[in-house]
Amino acid sequence: MAESRPQIEARGLVKTYGEHRILDGLNLSVNRGETLVILGASGSGKSTLLRSLIGLGRPDDGSVLVQGIDIFSTDRLSLKALRCRMGVAFQGGALFGSMTLAENIDLPLSEFTGLPASTRRIITQIKLGMVGLEDAMDLLPSQISGGMRKRAALARALALDPEILFFDEPSAGLDPVTAAGLDLLILQLKKVFHVTLVVVTHELTSAFSIADRLALMHEGRFLIIGSPADVQKSKDPIVRRFLDRLPEDKRKTSDFYQRFIEEEGDAQSIPEVDNES
Ligand SMILES: Nc1ncnc2c1ncn2[C@@H]1O[C@H](COP(=O)(O)OP(=O)(O)OP(=O)(O)O)[C@@H](O)[C@H]1O
Ligand SMILES: [Mg+2]
Repeated sequence: MAESRPQIEARGLVKTYGEHRILDGLNLSVNRGETLVILGASGSGKSTLLRSLIGLGRPDDGSVLVQGIDIFSTDRLSLKALRCRMGVAFQGGALFGSMTLAENIDLPLSEFTGLPASTRRIITQIKLGMVGLEDAMDLLPSQISGGMRKRAALARALALDPEILFFDEPSAGLDPVTAAGLDLLILQLKKVFHVTLVVVTHELTSAFSIADRLALMHEGRFLIIGSPADVQKSKDPIVRRFLDRLPEDKRKTSDFYQRFIEEEGDAQSIPEVDNES
């Protein structure tokens, strides 16, 4: 269950590209063990925010504390230690095309752990097994489907057993069953490993199914942050325009999906999962 100590705190984030103020004094706090889902129109700055939260893109102003460490002012060693506790699955997968899936997943292991190759191979097998890709270990990213690449990116993000996982667009472009399977996997990570998750998505079905809290980005800030039920009740016209793409009966929350994990444990058994985009 979520605890009160924030794992991530962003304060007054500002990021400008040319004339465009993409982040405009944005504040954010993510609690341990919670899943925060960030929604927003294309180009609203979701990936930019995520990059700032993981220390990849320095904001023009503001600060980001991860587990209490200011990632833009800490020393290299503590940033490296912190990065070991953070997993990131980028929007496009960002797998290395000339490396097999196993080699891709091995990268963070060989960079950060100092474990022997034989041990790393076993860990790689486990991580690929977690996302159902144990038989694809020795294939190249170009030899697998888009959905498989997303799952491989997730396996790589999980390589070091992260405490915090950032996931940009896990289910965009996937068929409904594969997308639901990824949602289930995310819920299982949360339940079994108590991972803190920040997920960016366009997919409302997915957002409502995995979120403890939803946050809608608009004009460089969050227009609303709240539980799925609270967000669903909002009368703000911009929130409504965003949400009303999805019929109310499709807005199942994580409790609904959790029952399927407990009872069936199988994405195929979820009824009425729709892939809205
Ligand atoms: N490196 C960059 N240089 C210039 N402009 C950028 C850069 N990165 C992002 N932008 C601009 O910032 C805005 C926000 O981009 P961002 O990728 O964060 O949006 P997004 O909400 O993730 O969109 P999508 O839902 O399509 O992934 C866009 O207008 C984009 O063109
Ligand atoms: Mg994006």
